[in-house]
Amino acid sequence: MADIVRYPANSPDTHCTPEEYDARYQRSVEDADAFWLEEATKRLDWYQEPTKAGDWSFDPVDIKWFADGSLNLCHNCVDRHLPEHADRTALIFEPDDPASPGRTLTYAQLHGEVVQMANALKALGVTKGDRVTLYMPMVIEGLLAMLACARIGAIHSVVFGGFSPEALAGRIEACDSNFVITADEGLRGNKHIPLKANVDAALEEPDHTLNVKGVLVVRHTGGEITMKEGRDHWYHDLTSDADCPCEEMGAEDPLFILYTSGSTGKPKGVLHTTGGYALWTAATFHYTFDYQPGEVFWCSADIGWVTGHSYVTYGPLLNAGTSVVFEGVPNYPDFGRFWEVVAKHKVNIFYTAPTAIRALMREHDEWVVKHDRSSLRILGTVGEPINPEAWRWYYEVVGESRCPVVDTWWQTETGGHMITTLPYAHDMKPGSAGKPFFGVQPLLVDNEGQPLDGATEGNLCISASWPGQARTVYGDHDRFIEAYFSTFPGRYFTGDGCRRDADGYYWITGRVDDVINVSGHRMGTAEVESALVLHSQVSEAAVVGYPHDVKGQGIYCYVTLMEGEEATDDLKADLRQQVRKEIGPVATPDHIHFTDDLPKTRSGKIMRRILRKIAENDYGSLGDTSTLADPSLVDRLIEGRQNR
Ligand code: WT7
Repeated sequence: MADIVRYPANSPDTHCTPEEYDARYQRSVEDADAFWLEEATKRLDWYQEPTKAGDWSFDPVDIKWFADGSLNLCHNCVDRHLPEHADRTALIFEPDDPASPGRTLTYAQLHGEVVQMANALKALGVTKGDRVTLYMPMVIEGLLAMLACARIGAIHSVVFGGFSPEALAGRIEACDSNFVITADEGLRGNKHIPLKANVDAALEEPDHTLNVKGVLVVRHTGGEITMKEGRDHWYHDLTSDADCPCEEMGAEDPLFILYTSGSTGKPKGVLHTTGGYALWTAATFHYTFDYQPGEVFWCSADIGWVTGHSYVTYGPLLNAGTSVVFEGVPNYPDFGRFWEVVAKHKVNIFYTAPTAIRALMREHDEWVVKHDRSSLRILGTVGEPINPEAWRWYYEVVGESRCPVVDTWWQTETGGHMITTLPYAHDMKPGSAGKPFFGVQPLLVDNEGQPLDGATEGNLCISASWPGQARTVYGDHDRFIEAYFSTFPGRYFTGDGCRRDADGYYWITGRVDDVINVSGHRMGTAEVESALVLHSQVSEAAVVGYPHDVKGQGIYCYVTLMEGEEATDDLKADLRQQVRKEIGPVATPDHIHFTDDLPKTRSGKIMRRILRKIAENDYGSLGDTSTLADPSLVDRLIEGRQNR
């Protein structure tokens, strides 16, 4: 089987030819300052143009880009497009239920609505530098709230609507946020998500010290909710058309915080700043998707994840593009939903996750082919490695073998794409993310930190800063250093394993730390363990990932119980519920395996490698088990795995 797929040579306007890629890449690393200053002045509108691009060090860790420049991101996404593109469509809202009315906003209308939202935030008491927590469904108001924060200089922290009140409370507390923006309810696959009720519950969590002064509530479903006098306000009661100028922000002023899981402790509040992030999302959107004026772009991610931040909101709007905001799910009302939306809005560029592709691939191709996909020009994937079989299905069935597929590798911490083929510049290799984006310098190192050359496999680091890089963990710079710069000093460590082939293509092999990737969402095994051991009948828990046909990885939990407690199905159900309560439905365990003990070394360290192998049903390569305190435990664990 040929594992190289040629890009179709049919785009006269492409932003990057193969020759241009080589020249630009070379310049971007050899003359980074000039390259990025040029890009910055070309792609963004500044009050004060920067005179210097990168000013950074990875040891000690201090990262700045365009530091003497000033700009406003909302102005760049909205206001600056008005003279030329006031009537162009900015956003297309496609509701959960195809029978409900959608809505479309031109740039002029978007401007009007962002001003309304910004005025509502001001009326709520929000000022420059305040943290504002968004707990929103996928509706236009979610994007308005992000843009309105950027307009007035507030820092948004979006929390995905699938997180529980407990998890929401933790994220409000961690950044000492005084304001929450939410909706009465969300809708997903005809299920009502009680967002406002969850906010109420979060604000009453006894274990957290919260300082929330105001809650802004968008009416969406009209579902019944309670409003607390003095604290809660309807959005439509606080809007106004009053003039609301954009705040002039320093390039290094914070733009947003986004919580993401790591291998230890609570989720980290990754902080992105204004200028560098803006440039990174603007440039990657332009090149990776080869975006052409007037094209309809659809990224199916939720704004609760970084993909939604960078490629539903900021990237498309910075390019005066048209972005689809989709509230629904791929399988409601049927498995043809994605392609129905593609046909309805004549989507040109479609960007989704391998887990969705795999789920739809299992159904009949009829669901795809019955909808007109002739508008499609480019397809993208993100979030986890895509298996070649799913890649082929996406390319051949969905894209009719005429649309380049971009497999974009990046992370919450990178702000935007880092490794990806470009549509008409690179041949594609199914399963490989491809080549580094401009300015990105990947480095593979062995476990001792020694750089590896040529075709090889190792730990993926990035050796030089790029404009979209996260600057710190909010309020905890030491944790930022510890998490990303301590394993391999002087380098940013991604946490991913990776292979580089002889053509210089990168193949991500998955996380090498205790983070698992469930349906493209990052989950810290330590977080799930903490949730499990909170249960009074649980003594210890060890959580690992295992291969899952649709989700990529599933969540496998080994649990030991307190003396005298009984392992029952009811208790299993209870534990699942416990995790949903502490973290949210996104973290629901797939398997709970009760065991009388966990494999530990004599010094008491849990041997996760063995637990991973057993969860994977791979008993041939358990490695050395002689250092276990109780070697006979392995057989009992295997038996337990096989009997499930
Ligand atoms: C982790 C980052 C980037 C937005 C969505 C996830 C994995 C991401 C790919 C890809 C293989 C990928 C990595 C990475 N990942 N994209 N194209 N191929 N793996 O953001 O939650 O910050 O997770 O997702 O393991 O480290 P995130």
